[in-house]
Amino acid sequence: MPKYLAAAVEDLPPGTRKIVEIAGRSVGLFNIDGKFYALRNRCPHQGGPLCEGRQSGFLEAEAPGVFRYARRGEILRCAWHGWEFDITTGRSWVDPRRVRTRSYRVCVAPGAAVMGKEADTTLQAETYVVSVEKEYVVVEIP
Ligand code: FES
Repeated sequence: MPKYLAAAVEDLPPGTRKIVEIAGRSVGLFNIDGKFYALRNRCPHQGGPLCEGRQSGFLEAEAPGVFRYARRGEILRCAWHGWEFDITTGRSWVDPRRVRTRSYRVCVAPGAAVMGKEADTTLQAETYVVSVEKEYVVVEIP
């Protein structure tokens, strides 16, 4: 599966997001507590810019009156009409079996590996000057 250089890790610190163009698609990159996720920036409802929406978590109640805020930053609310999605899977929070946006596999690769273009990949870097000292977010897009 083709792999694309999406961003330098240092440009995407925990708690931030970045929207990039990869292979003609708009893709939202998210760093949630040091883990990276990539979603297609297109809402399955009416095509809105899903990845520009607000991030949140949700309240859990273990017992009546006992609440806990959970999964901080993992829920994404579409900027157009508020449909909510799980950033870790791309699935709708309300109807996860039927409604989802595409989520892509993400890994972090050292600059040396990016420059070496591992033999089994078709790693592409459209706009980056790559440094061996840095790490990069790499996204697999079919
Ligand atoms: S386009 Fe995303 S909720 Fe309507």
